[in-house]
Amino acid sequence: MKVVLIAGDGIGPEVTAAAQEIISAAGVKIDWVPAAAGLGAAETHGEPLPEETLDLIRKHRVALKGPCTTPVGKGFRSINVRLRKGLDLYASVRPVKTLPGVKTPYTDVDLVVVRENTEGLYAGLEHQVVPGVIESLRVITRAACERIVRYAFDLAVRTGRHRVTFCHKADVMRLTDGLFLECAREVADDFPFIAFEEKSIDNVCLELALDPTKYDVLVMENLFGDVISDLCAGLVGGLGVVPGANLGARYAVFEAVHGSAPDIAGKGLANPIAVVRSAAMMLDYVGERKAAERIERAVETTLQAGVGLTRDLGGTGNTATITAEIIKNLGA
Ligand code: NAI
Repeated sequence: MKVVLIAGDGIGPEVTAAAQEIISAAGVKIDWVPAAAGLGAAETHGEPLPEETLDLIRKHRVALKGPCTTPVGKGFRSINVRLRKGLDLYASVRPVKTLPGVKTPYTDVDLVVVRENTEGLYAGLEHQVVPGVIESLRVITRAACERIVRYAFDLAVRTGRHRVTFCHKADVMRLTDGLFLECAREVADDFPFIAFEEKSIDNVCLELALDPTKYDVLVMENLFGDVISDLCAGLVGGLGVVPGANLGARYAVFEAVHGSAPDIAGKGLANPIAVVRSAAMMLDYVGERKAAERIERAVETTLQAGVGLTRDLGGTGNTATITAEIIKNLGA
């Protein structure tokens, strides 16, 4: 099986290498096809997202990706936004679950954040009207709203979940979120056995802080989803442990929620678990369910044992020690 590998920037190469090692130790043979993207690619290929990289994903359909650095406020547009739009990876899926051994204020969090990945303010359509006045277009289309809400409901059905919460700000953004809400209600009608609720995004933030266990599947537009994903990661142990997938009708790119972490890059300190669990989601997607489950179990055993953990998890270990522990626990 061929899978495209985008190592990315910062801690990307360190954490994707750990995932490759663990997949191999789990007995799955993958022929990795390296592809460039990120700040590094801008330097080596003169382009942060070379067309060749998109073509490789179009050819092989599936990619595992490390984080890519996007300079703030200047230079090129976010590679992630372009990649997701270029391949129409319309659904960002982030399972957020309490992990054994990871100390957090909550014990039973088990929710999935489904984020629309191609529109909203992240369409990146900004322009200067006159100096000192900038406009940003919030693009919302019926087609994109319907398919992301339908994806959330289908996911609920497929994974035995019972409730979908649509998060919006339709009282203020009456036309854009008004349309999204209208679409959500229409799609919800097709799923009478799944409970549907609509909530203001600010209210959802409050309730996530007070009691995240009451949520099941959350679906929302792009910017809200980006913020809520990080918030939810914080509920279960931080950015180092939460996996993610960007899925479309034809292609899938698996990556952690976290970024390139320039503050710890190159030091061997990064926690690879988020990318390892993203890789497990990838294995599940390509039909290697048993290996995916084995890796998930090995990660949980490692966290529970608390040996070799990285600093973000309160340990004194590093990327190499935690990787070795996960591999050791594959047999457990
Ligand atoms: P970040 O996620 O890279 O880092 C935030 C904090 O979390 C830092 O203190 C970092 O050390 C820590 N952290 C993140 N991942 C970790 C891990 N695996 N193990 C241990 N600690 C970890 O977010 P930041 O600093 O806002 O972004 C840095 C760069 O990453 C930016 O250029 C941003 O555009 C990019 N980025 C890329 C993403 C992607 O490619 N999917 C997603 C988010 C950000």
